Amino acid sequence: IEKALYPKDLCGKNVLVTAGPTQEKMDPVRYISNHSTGKMGYALASVCAMRGAKVTLVSGKTALAHPLFVDTVDVVSAKDMYEAVTERFAGQDIIIKAAAVADYRPKEVAQEKIKKKDGALSVEMERTDDILAYLGAHKRPDQYICGFSMETEHMLENSRAKLERKKIDMIAANNLKQDGAGFGTDTNIVTLITKNSEEELPKLSKQDTANRIVDEIIRRMK
Ligand code: CTP
Ligand code: CA
Repeated sequence: IEKALYPKDLCGKNVLVTAGPTQEKMDPVRYISNHSTGKMGYALASVCAMRGAKVTLVSGKTALAHPLFVDTVDVVSAKDMYEAVTERFAGQDIIIKAAAVADYRPKEVAQEKIKKKDGALSVEMERTDDILAYLGAHKRPDQYICGFSMETEHMLENSRAKLERKKIDMIAANNLKQDGAGFGTDTNIVTLITKNSEEELPKLSKQDTANRIVDEIIRRMK
């Protein structure tokens, strides 16, 4: 019923959304990850579907049910997400990267469980590939790419730097230190940054935030 109430302003568009955390394996029982629950990305995927788009959701491990009317691809690591996204990139009109992708992974994955010993444990980490930077470098002029940015300080400057460095069209910036924003909450406070604009949205449900992000993308798309 809710689906019928939305404007079908994404009809004919292919949208790819990423959501959730990635998990980077350390040994058969351990991984390194982050606090993303996937709620923002799932809200975006379902809002885009309700607005008429053909939606692919590439999701890290979350506790959420797959959204209705969405083709969901489950992944675990940053490498899996990179492969799932880059494989599907050419067929998309809009890409929204809400996933919290690990920046580093353990350099070696131990085949057996690492046993505890006296003293500290050091784990050598290596960089993962930046998926968004790949997309920005390979995007066609008719594709629109929106990233997210999570900051605890200098949110606007850092987010604008990411927009430029990754050559993408929009960043939805989150300040992790604001109440009602970021991980685990049902609300969000997001500032939408493009090359020539900056708009702070009020504290909204993740669903309303998703709709506002999509409004802005549609308004700015060629
Ligand atoms: N991102 C990505 N691939 C990565 C890391 C991040 O695609 N390996 C994307 C995220 O999905 C998000 C955006 O880049 O849309 C910004 O993520 P964020 O962690 O805020 O920025 P980073 O560029 O990783 O920089 P830092 O963590 O140092 O702030
Ligand atoms: Ca990061």
